[in-house]
Amino acid sequence: MKIVMLGAPGAGKGTQAKMLADKYAIPHISTGDIFRANMKEGTPLGKKAKEFMDAGALVPDELTVDLVLDRIGREDCKNGYILDGFPRTINQAEKLTEALSSQGGDIDFAVNVDVPDESIIKRMAGRRMCPSCGASYHVVNIPPKKEGVCDRCGADLITRKDDQPETVKNRLSVYHEQTQPLYDYYKEKGLVVDVDGTKPMEEVFKAITDRLGE
Ligand code: AP5
Repeated sequence: MKIVMLGAPGAGKGTQAKMLADKYAIPHISTGDIFRANMKEGTPLGKKAKEFMDAGALVPDELTVDLVLDRIGREDCKNGYILDGFPRTINQAEKLTEALSSQGGDIDFAVNVDVPDESIIKRMAGRRMCPSCGASYHVVNIPPKKEGVCDRCGADLITRKDDQPETVKNRLSVYHEQTQPLYDYYKEKGLVVDVDGTKPMEEVFKAITDRLGE
């Protein structure tokens, strides 16, 4: 099963993508996570991506498209994958469609996690991330068992640099301008699964899997 996650920054795409990856036993491929890992390691890609990410802007397509097309061509993706944060522009979506149609296919579902902007701003302010294993928490909605500490691996949780309120506003406006048009792109192909992302995460997960099947 090939799944694309759609939705605003902070809508819960990563949270659901991790749960779906476990359920369907397919890789969760997050371009944001790939860029953050490269930033942490100080690679040339990480250094280039950092200036765009810190400002809440998109990393240029030429740094992003080949990276993803290469990743989905690997052996562990042969039964499918979940793309989280890609595509993010119509150009990226067209490149993905071209690559898949050259193998006679397309994605199976574009899951759209819908959350209004007001709720997004609150969510981002409360998000805490594990810098070691990538687990995501929220200080109110999804708190770790011990404050400030990852349940999974025990590392100290951090706040993402691009979760500062001013950067979040910029990310939302970039989303509305450049990424939201993807909803119509996939709607016209009949691939969109709409879910209400304001519900608790287990309900959102059930709504998605009810549509995707076992
Ligand atoms: P990326 O890492 O992809 O960030 P994003 O899309 O902005 O999404 P987030 O990770 O912020 O949020 P999410 O929707 O995954 O929500 P989450 O599950 O964490 O990208 C970062 C940057 O990288 C971009 O700005 C760009 O610069 C660059 N980039 C990445 N891909 C790119 C591309 N293809 N092209 C160009 N540039 C690219 O949840 C958010 C919070 O809400 C958490 O605290 C969570 O615990 C909580 N939560 C989740 N679900 C619920 C729920 N149901 N109820 C209550 N709280 C919930």
